[in-house]
Amino acid sequence: MSDILRRGRLSSTPDEDMIKFTSSMSADKWIFEADILVDMAHTVMLLEQNIIKEQDCSNILKGLLKIREEGIGKLDHTYEDIHISLESRLIDLAGEDTGGRMHSGRSRNDEVATCIRIRLRDELLSLMEELSDLCKTLLTKALDNTVTLMPGFTHLQHAQPTTFAHHLVAHSDAIGRDIERAMDAFSRVNRCPLGSAAFASTGFALDRERTCSLLGFDTILGNSMDAVSTRDFLIESVSVMSNIMINLSKLAEEIIIWSSSEFSFVELDDMYASTSSIMPQKKNPDSAELVRGKTGTVLGSQMALLSLCKALPLSYNRDLQEATPNMWRAVETTRGAVRITKGMIATMKINAESMAEKSVLGFTTATELADTMVREADIPFRTAHQIVGVLAQGKGDPTLDEIDNVASDIIGESLSDRGLTETMVAEALDPIRNVSRRNIEGGPAPDEMERAIKVRLKELGTIKENIAGLNRDIESALKVLFGIVKEYTGKDV
Ligand code: ARG
Repeated sequence: MSDILRRGRLSSTPDEDMIKFTSSMSADKWIFEADILVDMAHTVMLLEQNIIKEQDCSNILKGLLKIREEGIGKLDHTYEDIHISLESRLIDLAGEDTGGRMHSGRSRNDEVATCIRIRLRDELLSLMEELSDLCKTLLTKALDNTVTLMPGFTHLQHAQPTTFAHHLVAHSDAIGRDIERAMDAFSRVNRCPLGSAAFASTGFALDRERTCSLLGFDTILGNSMDAVSTRDFLIESVSVMSNIMINLSKLAEEIIIWSSSEFSFVELDDMYASTSSIMPQKKNPDSAELVRGKTGTVLGSQMALLSLCKALPLSYNRDLQEATPNMWRAVETTRGAVRITKGMIATMKINAESMAEKSVLGFTTATELADTMVREADIPFRTAHQIVGVLAQGKGDPTLDEIDNVASDIIGESLSDRGLTETMVAEALDPIRNVSRRNIEGGPAPDEMERAIKVRLKELGTIKENIAGLNRDIESALKVLFGIVKEYTGKDV
């Protein structure tokens, strides 16, 4: 048996069914590049610690570069995972006396955990960039729509007039918190398990800080048993993604409702729409529906991860292999959904007229009318609430006479006697004035909205710089690693 993993301890080979059941090769495509980085850093450190000779180091690195160039397709896919398959290819290329030394002081347990963290941190950084782009799109659209009236809803019933800008910034703020959460998760993902070996570390004098820094990690995971066992960083990251998807699905749901003939607030660009195979007139908001639907996929991944990790004894258990594909599925789905949502928002047509028209339906100005009674006629809010509630049972906007009649019934006094005028009533019932009056921080008044959007756009600039800084830190660490690899192979990486 030439299988470098099984040839010692095991005598029979797994059949096709068993290989299919146990192999992680298909999901391991996500960590092929990362595995080569981990192999490079480990090999360089082994040399620096005098655990392997310079000639071996140089031949291992040359072999790794060749494998990288050949790509994952060249590897033997009958091995149970990428790590052993890659090592086997290295041994083919460099001979066992050299290639067989690379795995000194290492286990696949610390290797795989390190690889997942390397790939996941890159995915998180890209996700954060895409989320910031989505925020920027929402904020830019909002800036164009600070005076675009729309009805605001509670219980999906017309509630109070607001602006489209106010609504879009609400979504952007939610996504902004998702970026914060992703940044937080990143700080715990970017820690290095390498050097923990199977779980009990190793008697080789490894320099864990060195591999940590060559791979661009912030710090090492201090306990070797925890380092190989934990997948809490996956749970945390996917839960960030679940939250993102929930936020996106809420927005998607609104886009779907807004695109209906009943609302007709927006029209998606044709690129984001589909049609019916039987009803030639149909234009369907399928991309939004899929964002809503794929939310279930990500929530499912999270549930799978949680159930997998529950009650696992320390340290490594093969169950953990089932965790990772769930995470990749979540990452791929979430990143896709963020990009598609951004595209939908950037290109959708806004039907400002229809929105403005509907902004007053259902007596949405009632609260402002009650507030005006409180301010101008000096009655308690609860009393004003009752008067306007009775008026709401009538048809159309109430006149001052109708207000006075109801007020006389309830408090035995007309409100015009207490200073309420027709102009005051008319102003309260005007949706534009309604919105303009809501000018405290966080409100929809156009001036306040403009200020709020500008503050956010500026903050977004800082967030983007932070993300770029994290990318640069990783790049410069890898540059050092690649410089050393070049020194021993003569090849640019
Ligand atoms: N494919 C494995 C995984 O994804 C790699 C680690 C295997 N370790 C082991 N002791 N069998 O978890």
